Amino acid sequence: MKKNETEQIRIGSRVFAKYLHRDTIKARIQELGRDISMDYQDKFPVFIVVLNGAFMFAADLVRATAMECQLEFVKLASYEDVRSTGTIKKIIGIPIPLEGRHVIIVEDIVDTGRTMDSMIKELKTMDPASVSVATLLYKPDCLQVAIESTYVGFEIPDAFVIGYGLDLDGKARNLPDIYQLAFEDDGTVEG
Ligand code: IMP
Repeated sequence: MKKNETEQIRIGSRVFAKYLHRDTIKARIQELGRDISMDYQDKFPVFIVVLNGAFMFAADLVRATAMECQLEFVKLASYEDVRSTGTIKKIIGIPIPLEGRHVIIVEDIVDTGRTMDSMIKELKTMDPASVSVATLLYKPDCLQVAIESTYVGFEIPDAFVIGYGLDLDGKARNLPDIYQLAFEDDGTVEG
């Protein structure tokens, strides 16, 4: 085992176990980068990175690609839509026109798919040539809205994960590996 590697992380009463090692993540991102480079050769795509969670994934993903591209960063603001039952997320900070552009949304994780669904719909109103999604993690068991995730790093089970950009109450984003919720302090097994 390498130095400074922690097999378990505790945040409050929650204990997380190491799930995806940094080398595994890196190797998979190299593959995604190669796929994207082939698919978008000569298309000058624009990556739209969803902050905060996707910052680390995006930094590694774009460095694994070879074609000419642009990078933009957005945040999503939640608001209650009076016409619908759920919370809608609105994109903040798209600084360039997307008309006719090939857009690749870079996201950390697709869980229910609601965030991606509303984001894709909003981006499509800007008349891009195409919209695809690159997500590091994808929980197929949680999906409530069909999403075409064109580039998926890892399909994972329905358990909360942290690290490599993903947080729990703002903590753990800086961990180089991904950890999965193992159990609560009281011994209750989750996931
Ligand atoms: P969705 O709208 O349910 O697909 O949720 C997507 C967002 O929820 C992600 O961008 C994350 O911010 C957050 N999220 C969902 N599952 C997890 C998780 O296991 N760990 C950390 N954040 C998560």
